[in-house]
Amino acid sequence: MRTIFCFIVCKLAALYSFPQQVVSIIPQPQQVDIREGNFPLHKARLILPADPKAKSVARFFADAVKQQTAIVLSTVKVSSYSISFVYKKSIADPEGYEISIQPKNILVQANNDKGLFWAVQTLRQLLPLKKTTTVELPCLQIKDAPQYAWRSNMLDVSRHFFSVDFIKKHVDLLSLYKINKFHWHLTDDQGWRIAIKKYPKLTSVGGWRKEADGATHGGFYTQEQIKEIVKYAQQRNVTIIPEIEMPGHCMAAIVAYPELSCRKKQLETPSYFGVINDVYCAGQEKTYQFSQDVLNEVLALFPSKYIHIGGDEVPKFRWQQCPVCQQKIKEEGLKDEHELQSYFIKRIQKYLQSKGRILIGWDEILEGGADKNAVIEVWRGQDKAKEAIANGNSIIQTLYLDGPPALLTLQKSFQFDPSVAGAEKKMLGADCPLWTEWVTEYNADYMLYPRLQAFAERLWNVKTSYDDFQQRLQYHYSLLGKKGIQYGAEDKNL
Ligand code: ACM
Ligand code: ZN
Repeated sequence: MRTIFCFIVCKLAALYSFPQQVVSIIPQPQQVDIREGNFPLHKARLILPADPKAKSVARFFADAVKQQTAIVLSTVKVSSYSISFVYKKSIADPEGYEISIQPKNILVQANNDKGLFWAVQTLRQLLPLKKTTTVELPCLQIKDAPQYAWRSNMLDVSRHFFSVDFIKKHVDLLSLYKINKFHWHLTDDQGWRIAIKKYPKLTSVGGWRKEADGATHGGFYTQEQIKEIVKYAQQRNVTIIPEIEMPGHCMAAIVAYPELSCRKKQLETPSYFGVINDVYCAGQEKTYQFSQDVLNEVLALFPSKYIHIGGDEVPKFRWQQCPVCQQKIKEEGLKDEHELQSYFIKRIQKYLQSKGRILIGWDEILEGGADKNAVIEVWRGQDKAKEAIANGNSIIQTLYLDGPPALLTLQKSFQFDPSVAGAEKKMLGADCPLWTEWVTEYNADYMLYPRLQAFAERLWNVKTSYDDFQQRLQYHYSLLGKKGIQYGAEDKNL
């Protein structure tokens, strides 16, 4: 009797809490009103928009529905239930959208195809996580737009190489959580990962290293593979920001071409990590020519307006010893090696500007003075953020994901707040870098999830609570599990 009573109470409780349980969107939309009734997705006709971009978004939605459930949405059948994607120019935010689910129709509206696409990523999170031919979606009204325009994740593919398949799967998930930029850290001391036709040894030599145990580690992306990934990301509203490190963190390049360094010594691609003294020789014209040649090929592959050139952790030791660098300092009337670093970055910045692009650098590019048109990615704390803003630069804040979940807990990630008081106009948003000295394809998921979801929510909607986020996350553990993602352990409530 007691069991039956309990059974009935539990069933009633489950029914009562139905809408909350089925709506578990991350990041939480700005406004969600759940209404009475349901919309039978399996009976609906998808009305294809005339506009080609909107049409491809509608098709992406149909494909996602087919993959996630077992429903094939017809675009031709006669039905009194319809799904429409429509432009509504009065929606001001370029990424904003509205969804209205009523008993007979779903209406998705946005200013442009980007907003329509984010609406699709929201709709996908309303679907059940099992193959089924009947799906009832709850009636609701959503109005949504992001808090910050720059929401990115960086993956370091130099310290460990990540396959094309991994990158695509990664971009799929960034897109699902409305992370609109993928910052691809393509070069560093331990490996050069992007094929450059004019300098083939960058990848044939600099793409590989000998590990301490004698094994070889390496790999690189061909230009065809990069084009394919850029297109794949574009179709998912994700812009790829390539990062080509200079004038430091470039051992792989100077191993391939020793003439680019001050000492011209033949070195080996390092299998150890840290900050290495050997950097590009900033005194010789050859280095600038090389950097521009590389960037020319990079710009042809990546349409992004923003190009990251690193600029972090550049030891000045070799420059102090190098007659060519010292001569350059004299010729250009520079005070010291810090100003030589600034001279280097400013030359590259002008070059990128002449090609219609904007330079991003880590906060070290403030050393010796930075052009205010450069964007500063801040990784060394609020003082650097304030320094950049005082210098007139726009900034990107960071939440590093390379610490293990025990050090950066989920709750701490959820408390991430990129804002700097009074600097709203200069605040683009934030990046969550994953450095991979100790990370490979086999443990990357553990480092990324669920912290990346917390980051995504904080950049989209700052008004939600951690408790509520944790409740919604339960659906997403199942979602990640279905995709074979080995997400990390969640910390207990503190
Ligand atoms: C950095 O972590 N060196 C940007
Ligand atoms: Zn030099």
